[in-house]
Amino acid sequence: MPFTEHTVLLLLTIGTAYAKIEVTTVPSSVTVKPGEDVLLNCFLKVDTDYIDLKQLMVQWFHRGKQIAEFDNTITIDKPGVSLSVDELMKGNVSLLISSTKVEDSGNYRCYVYYQSAFRMKQIVLAVQESGQGKEEEEIQAPVEPVPKNDPETLQWVIQVKKAVDHLQETINLMKTDVEKCAAGREYKTLHP
Ligand SMILES: *[C@@H]1O[C@H](CO)[C@@H](O)[C@H](O)[C@H]1NC(C)=O
Repeated sequence: MPFTEHTVLLLLTIGTAYAKIEVTTVPSSVTVKPGEDVLLNCFLKVDTDYIDLKQLMVQWFHRGKQIAEFDNTITIDKPGVSLSVDELMKGNVSLLISSTKVEDSGNYRCYVYYQSAFRMKQIVLAVQESGQGKEEEEIQAPVEPVPKNDPETLQWVIQVKKAVDHLQETINLMKTDVEKCAAGREYKTLHP
């Protein structure tokens, strides 16, 4: 019966198109002294046994500017920050910042794309001498909401829309094929 065949194909297609992923940043706010190294923890968990690096893309942003990226290879756009391929394979997409400066303070965003899934997490870093104004820390600490017109978000929405359109096209083609195939069989049965 064509209905069951194409239902199975449809479920398979949807199953492979949407990976379940989880991204965590703990702690989500860190304070260090100038000159210290800091690790901004960001971890990816997938529902499969291993992470396929070909399906992974990671971007780190600081104050709206990309500072590090993994997309087949690591690209560093800011001196002193690093990612590790060995760690990425384990889902450790943490960003290491060595000898921090006061101007490294602020919001960091960790964008993780895996297969067709996407997550974004934020970490607030404060680089300051110990005992420096507590009030100041409280003022600069709030986590920025993601602006609706964030170019990254828009880009992502466009990508998802394309993927959905493509999926719809594939399903339509499969449907036609399955129907044609079923029609052919019926024809042969009637006219052997
Ligand atoms: C994650 O990777 C960083 C290097 O990028 C490393 O310093 C850190 O220890 C790793 N964390 C864990 C929990 O493995």
